[in-house]
Amino acid sequence: MTKITSLVTGGAGFIGSHVVKHCLALGHEVIVLDDLSGGFEDHIPAGAIFVQGSVSDENLVTALFEEYNFDYVYHLAAYAAEGLSHFIRRFNYNNNLIGSINLINESIKHKIKCFVFTSSIAVYGAGQLPMREEMVPMPEDPYGVSKYAVELDLKAAHEMFGLNYVVFRPHNVYGENQNIGDKYRNVIGIFMNQIMQGQPLTIFGDGEQTRAFSYIDDVAIPITNSVNIPEAYNQVFNIGADKPYTVNELVKVVGECFGVQPDVTHLQARNEVMHAYSDHTKAHSIFGKGSGVSLLDGIKVMAAWAEKVGARKSKEFENIEIYEKLPQGWEKKAQPEIIPA
Ligand SMILES: NC(=O)c1ccc[n+]([C@@H]2O[C@H](COP(=O)([O-])OP(=O)(O)OC[C@H]3O[C@@H](n4cnc5c(N)ncnc54)[C@H](O)[C@@H]3O)[C@@H](O)[C@H]2O)c1
Repeated sequence: MTKITSLVTGGAGFIGSHVVKHCLALGHEVIVLDDLSGGFEDHIPAGAIFVQGSVSDENLVTALFEEYNFDYVYHLAAYAAEGLSHFIRRFNYNNNLIGSINLINESIKHKIKCFVFTSSIAVYGAGQLPMREEMVPMPEDPYGVSKYAVELDLKAAHEMFGLNYVVFRPHNVYGENQNIGDKYRNVIGIFMNQIMQGQPLTIFGDGEQTRAFSYIDDVAIPITNSVNIPEAYNQVFNIGADKPYTVNELVKVVGECFGVQPDVTHLQARNEVMHAYSDHTKAHSIFGKGSGVSLLDGIKVMAAWAEKVGARKSKEFENIEIYEKLPQGWEKKAQPEIIPA
């Protein structure tokens, strides 16, 4: 029997590196395409073939599809800083939308068996809660707009050319291999990085905004397995944890896992959805209920990993396109040196 070959874009990133691990466990040959803009080569599990480059590089994408006869494409590469996307609009659409279209074009031409796309609950905007798949998406920021555009393009590619796809809309995923040095996204990682550097935790606004933080296994495992579940094909799934927590509650849990009572600095509230959680009935009916890992237990595992790898220096995003209304703390400033423990 010939080996299943899968392309995992963003496979050096957080969710992608877990998807690579699970694909390898299923016996796939895995090719990772990642430009390392947000990922780390040492997060790519051994056994995968790594190609460093961008999904926006049309010639590279074409050449990869020529070289490997992909059965499946797992497309996770993106810059997912939703809040920042207002200020990096051109970059967002080039990277997250046009890059996706390069992959979809080649997937159509090469008749791959299934294209798995990680969208986001950002597509819903500030609509009714909980967010359900049958609602009409109304994204409110460029990141969400680009994700929804890719979803619509996949639907059109399916109807026109028969390309099979599975769309996942995850939210607030956390766990080992997350880039805790990205100051523009991933509040749990940001808090851990701040605690490990002895800094106060920064909260936009009063901290009463809620999110349902999702443990990585509850997202990466269904994403990986979806290609083997025909009922999942050409469907959209919310995926992740059900229970929302306030950011203030999160501070306590993260502090507890590090054995500290962190100081908190409140920054000016930014323009963000106040409450965001989604319904997962549909995903549970197809993929099962998930690991049941609690927020405390999941964060304990991540904290142990974070303490092992240590704090990460935050990189500034170099090419801000719009400065008007840029949230406090996101303006460019010198970073303190991190001295390894
Ligand atoms: N983490 C979450 O909570 C969450 C929630 C909803 C959706 N998602 C989506 O899941 C996917 C993975 O997110 P993540 O949290 O693992 O982020 P991540 O930044 O850890 O991983 C993304 C990876 O993509 C790579 N990348 C970015 N642009 C690229 C490009 N043009 N070409 C090649 N590689 C590129 C980065 O280097 C990184 O390794 C993204 O598509 C994101 O939008 C994540």
